[in-house]
Amino acid sequence: MTQRTTDVVVIGAGAAGMMCAATAGARGRSVVLIDHATRLAEKIRISGGGRCNFTNLDVRPECYLSRNPHYCKSALARYTQHDFLKLMARHGLSWHEKTLGQLFCDQGSGAVIDLLKAEVDEGGATWRMGTSVTAVRRLDDGFEVTTPGETWHCASLVIASGGLSIPQIGATGFGYELARQFGLEIVPTAPALVPFTFQPEDLREELAGVAVDDSIVATGRTQFREATLFTHRGASGPAMLQISSYWQPGQPVVIDLLPERTLDELLADANRDALLANVLADALPKRLAQAIVAGLGDNKPLKQYSAKALRSLEDSLKRWQVVPSGTVGYKKAEVTRGGVDTAGLDSRSMMARTVPGLFFIGEVVDVTGWLGGYNFQWAWSSGFAAGSAA
Ligand code: FDA
Repeated sequence: MTQRTTDVVVIGAGAAGMMCAATAGARGRSVVLIDHATRLAEKIRISGGGRCNFTNLDVRPECYLSRNPHYCKSALARYTQHDFLKLMARHGLSWHEKTLGQLFCDQGSGAVIDLLKAEVDEGGATWRMGTSVTAVRRLDDGFEVTTPGETWHCASLVIASGGLSIPQIGATGFGYELARQFGLEIVPTAPALVPFTFQPEDLREELAGVAVDDSIVATGRTQFREATLFTHRGASGPAMLQISSYWQPGQPVVIDLLPERTLDELLADANRDALLANVLADALPKRLAQAIVAGLGDNKPLKQYSAKALRSLEDSLKRWQVVPSGTVGYKKAEVTRGGVDTAGLDSRSMMARTVPGLFFIGEVVDVTGWLGGYNFQWAWSSGFAAGSAA
């Protein structure tokens, strides 16, 4: 077993870990970056359909879920989306906005990984990919991190091992276990930004694959207006993924499939001799229009529907309530909600209040962003904060 010494050990060479290692390295700190994966930053690679939605023009603390909604403010203010854009420009990368301020890299997600790797190398960090951590011990003057071939003695230890989503590419609960080892609390974790599954009675097989471009999906007092996609198992699409982060098991999800208009407005100009499904198909995908009318009974000319039947139609269209049976879980979730409780961390440095020198950054922390580049921005901002202090 080789004994080595370094200023900082970062466990997890993903988005947050690389940003932290680069920042600490640029300050002249010696850094070792340890990751059990053999391929670097797979989550960045697969993100944004291979184009990496690396940040959002409209980053605000309100776009993050956390037991303490104020925790993310300091880090987000000190390293903003514009700071990351400057970094991209310095590396000759360009970007485009898709929708709702979401920025994607023109050169693809591989270019974002190359950028981060170049920054880490510039800071002189030592890489240990394909290396697992077998033990972590606190010493009087820092920590001892043991891997199969080496023992690293460091003053600062940064945990950037991410959440539980997509275990197939190396996600583990390492960060939570380590937090518990050092007496930190964990806010219960759950898959987030994840498709819903429906009970058999709510599943409409004929709707699988139908997309509604504009819908409002709500749970409790939270709602999102984006597209909904019906699937073989339930529902997905941006609006559903967003609301899944706020959903608690047993709660209903309410869907407005026609946010732009009331039913009265839709029917006002309609031909009263036309079949109802055809009238609805002017505003909705045809298969959805047919399924909604089938839920009311036979497809009849509009004029044959009673006022009561039309009110029931309005409920199906604008207040469709469903209690999901669950979600498709961590295998498909974009992120993990919950994590290391921020009550135990300092919001400026990300350091554990009761364990000087121990830092938690990125997704392992109880800070979860909306869909749309917010999670990578949290990784950059929290990585920068810890890298400036470790
Ligand atoms: P991240 O998961 O990136 O890195 C953690 C690292 O720790 C990994 O390299 C892992 O191998 C390593 N590790 C884990 N356990 C370990 C152990 N025991 N020992 C050593 N190493 C260990 N976000 C966004 O803003 N825009 C987007 O477009 C997308 N798209 C997207 C698509 C898909 C399919 C997914 C699954 C996720 C996204 N995300 C996203 C979310 C985003 O990928 C995520 O929030 C960040 O990668 C989190 O960064 P971290 O550095 O915290 O963890």
